[in-house]
Amino acid sequence: MTSIWDPIRIGNMALEHRFAMAPMTRSRAGADGTPSPLAAEYYAQRASLGLLITEGAQPSDDGQGYLNTPGIYTDAHVAGWRRLAQAVHTGGGHLVIQLMHVGRMSHPDNTPHHRQPVAPSAIAPGVKMFTARGMLDIPEPRALSVGEIEATVHDFAHAARQAIAAGADGVEIHAANGYLIQQFFAPNANVRGDRYGGPTQNRTRFAFEVARAVSDAIGPERTGIRISPGSTLGGIDEGPEARALYRRLVPALAELGLAYLHVPMVAMKSCLARSAGCGRTRCWLRAPIAPSSLLPPMWRPGLPTWPRLGAGRSPIRISSSDIGQARR
Ligand SMILES: Cc1cc2nc3c(=O)[nH]c(=O)nc-3n(C[C@H](O)[C@H](O)[C@H](O)COP(=O)(O)O)c2cc1C
Repeated sequence: MTSIWDPIRIGNMALEHRFAMAPMTRSRAGADGTPSPLAAEYYAQRASLGLLITEGAQPSDDGQGYLNTPGIYTDAHVAGWRRLAQAVHTGGGHLVIQLMHVGRMSHPDNTPHHRQPVAPSAIAPGVKMFTARGMLDIPEPRALSVGEIEATVHDFAHAARQAIAAGADGVEIHAANGYLIQQFFAPNANVRGDRYGGPTQNRTRFAFEVARAVSDAIGPERTGIRISPGSTLGGIDEGPEARALYRRLVPALAELGLAYLHVPMVAMKSCLARSAGCGRTRCWLRAPIAPSSLLPPMWRPGLPTWPRLGAGRSPIRISSSDIGQARR
């Protein structure tokens, strides 16, 4: 029986055990998005966790939504991340930088440029967000043009190259939790009439193009992706075609041979039988971690095409709580 303490290889990373740290926004970067020495210290302190998935880092100016989040596109960003990656590697850890474009989950107060947020369509999420003036309504975004969507795909690929240049072991594409990529999935956030809206093959197009561009840029063995099917964070409602959408998306991603598929527990609570869950975020390593018999029907087609890398229910367990002492 495979144990949580057994080693595992994920893409190009040989991990000593199967705990990993969940991505968590820390809002400690400089005003220009450069990670601070404090960030290097924070991640270095956690290096013994093995695999650290970082806070979301914006791939462009318009990708930022929260105060003082790091970027990963300028040379100054790379220099900041390089200090951080060196500190993590010195501590024996592996670093995966999460690429997060927030789309409409942004407030002009929170960005240096103060521009209107961008999104698939001009539809506000209907939720508030934290700013220096307290919790404020998120304003209506403006819809991206097709040319801007194509440029955003390039931004993700550029950010991935910058992450590798900074010494990261890989990147995780954030396609979950109500941010830009998931906004394209949801008919209540995406009412486009072009090739990025409407039928499921159009609403998954941006996610797939980003995954392919990143994978082409740095290699599939360095590329992971996080999805959160069914999550309503950020005002998202994926609607009646959600199952069909993920049945299309997940096998298409599997074809790229990415290092891993990361599915937060918030998304799985509605999908997995209680007995299959450990209450923590789960990472599916190109395979369901639960036996497919425990998966509800919506998940059976498609997901088994991700080859199984680990046996048992927990090839890897990702946690946002402090589990540094868990081994004792
Ligand atoms: C303060 C905070 C910041 C977070 N920031 C991110 C983030 O930047 N990217 C992301 O994918 N998830 C983010 N999350 C979600 C976590 O990765 C995780 O899915 C969530 O905390 C549930 O995991 P748990 O069951 O281990 O607590 C954040 C969560 C918290 C509490």
